[in-house]
Amino acid sequence: MRRPFVAGNWKMNLTLAQGKALAAAIAADCPAGDSVDVALCPASPYLLPVKDAIAGSGVQLGAQNAYFAAPGAFTGEIALDMLLDVGCQWVILGHSERRQFFGDTDALINKKLIAARQKGLGVIFCVGELLAERQENRTEAVLETQMAGGLADVDAAMFEGVVIAYEPVWAIGTGVTASPEQAEAAHLYLRNWVRSHYNNAAADQLRIQYGGSVKPDNAAELLSQPNVDGALVGGASLKPEQFLPIIQAARGIVK
Ligand code: 13P
Repeated sequence: MRRPFVAGNWKMNLTLAQGKALAAAIAADCPAGDSVDVALCPASPYLLPVKDAIAGSGVQLGAQNAYFAAPGAFTGEIALDMLLDVGCQWVILGHSERRQFFGDTDALINKKLIAARQKGLGVIFCVGELLAERQENRTEAVLETQMAGGLADVDAAMFEGVVIAYEPVWAIGTGVTASPEQAEAAHLYLRNWVRSHYNNAAADQLRIQYGGSVKPDNAAELLSQPNVDGALVGGASLKPEQFLPIIQAARGIVK
């Protein structure tokens, strides 16, 4: 049984006042005990105020990145202990924007992922191909490299707290969504990868989110695919009137 999981990745957006208001609006519609898991991932300065705004609701807190090392002399970085300290249950790792703009390699993502799991933090591990890679029919090869690299030395027990987000880079922030068939094919590939590298239970329990221009008008069709278990939402997570219908589309879907 896989509970749907919808997460909002706010990226480097919003003011403090906007973030608090947005979090309160989402929390008001997502009570504890809801049939869908919902997480908000604000920029780090807003983690604490967002935590306060979602207190008592069913909404969980996530960060957008972390460093693997123990607290110490790493100017500008954020330790996993700090994320736990402010109430995070999740951290997004391997987002394509980190890979493209900030030099996050598969090896670095792997170190972060292992450190996060050792601390008991849930990980939303992002993978996805560039447009040129898809056009060259290299999608599965890219996913294989990212999965093998990011999950190196991650055993089945450690893998239990990992959610995978399939985010084709060409669909992020572009308004071009993967078709339900394209998303389903990639998700099935990822689940089968987990089946062959871990075991059936790990594959059957794994939740795979789709990310890339998810909107209220395409969410239901994407989420109805057998291997799509949720969404990682960027732009549409910044407005309650867009994010709440996406959450609603995920309610009651159990696979
Ligand atoms: P958009 O929903 O804005 O395309 O962003 C997707 C994403 O990158 C979520 O992590």
